[in-house]
Amino acid sequence: MKIAFIGDIVGRPGRTMIKEHLPRLRREYGIDFVIANYENASHGFGVTVKNAHELLDTGIDCMSGGNHTWDKKEVEPLLASLPLLRPHNYPEGVPGSGCRVFEVGGKRLAVLNIMGHYGMPYVDNAFRCARDTVAQLKNDGVEHIFVDFHAEATSEKRAMLMLLQGEVSGIIGTHTHVGSDDLQISRGTAYLTDIGLTGCRDNVIGMDAKVPVEKFLLGVSGRFEVPEKCRKIFQIAIMTLEGGKCTDAFKLKIFDDGRVFRTDAWIEE
Ligand code: FE2
Repeated sequence: MKIAFIGDIVGRPGRTMIKEHLPRLRREYGIDFVIANYENASHGFGVTVKNAHELLDTGIDCMSGGNHTWDKKEVEPLLASLPLLRPHNYPEGVPGSGCRVFEVGGKRLAVLNIMGHYGMPYVDNAFRCARDTVAQLKNDGVEHIFVDFHAEATSEKRAMLMLLQGEVSGIIGTHTHVGSDDLQISRGTAYLTDIGLTGCRDNVIGMDAKVPVEKFLLGVSGRFEVPEKCRKIFQIAIMTLEGGKCTDAFKLKIFDDGRVFRTDAWIEE
C-alpha cells in the first residue's frame, strides 16, 4: 500500500498547490491513500465547509486537524459527516474523533491525530492517549497505523517516535509549518519531525511577514493574513507500507517555479 501525507495547508496558496499537483502525483506514484492537515486551510485559520469539500475532491482521503480545528465553527458537523479528524486527546465530550480506520486495497489503515503539549491548549496526555489507542488498534487487528503528531516541541515529537517505533507505520509531525531534515524509517516506522507547510514559502509560517515581524519588534500583535501573492511550496511524504511496517519513504518539495527537491529516508534497524 502506498500512502502520502501533506502537512498544514495554509490558505488559498496552499489549496492552489494541492489542486495543481496532487491529482498528478497520485497517478504518477500510484498513491492509494492521501492524508492532509486542514487546520490552516481557510485564510490560515481552520477550514470552511466549501474548502473541506474542495480539498477532498482533489484526491485527499482523510484530513487531520490541530489546535486551529475549531477556528471555523461550521466545521463541527463535518467531523461526523466527512473523513475529518481532530486531535484524539481532546477530552471526552468534545465533538469528533481523532482516530478513524479505513479499508485500503483490502487492508486496514488507521489514521490517528494527536496534539502535543508545549504551547498548546490543555488536553489529555498525548503520550498515554497515543500509546493506549495504538494498543487498542493492534488488538483489533488493524495492520497499518499512521500518526499525525501536531506539536510545537521537537522533543515531544522525538519522544513519540521512541514510544511508538516498531508499533506504527508512520509518525509525521505538523504545526510548526517548517519542514525538518530527518526523514527516516526507524524499526519500520517512517518518521519526520515536521513535514512543513504547503502554501507561501517566502513569508513567516505561510502568513504575511509584516505582522509577525512587527509583533517580534514591538510585542504588539495584529491580525495574521495569508498573502495574496507569494512564492509557493508543496510538501508531501510518500510511504510504501507492507505488513504493518514502512519499507520505503521519500519527501518531495515542489516549488511553484518548477523546482523539485527529493529527500529519501534513511533506515534505522
Ligand atoms: Fe497548529
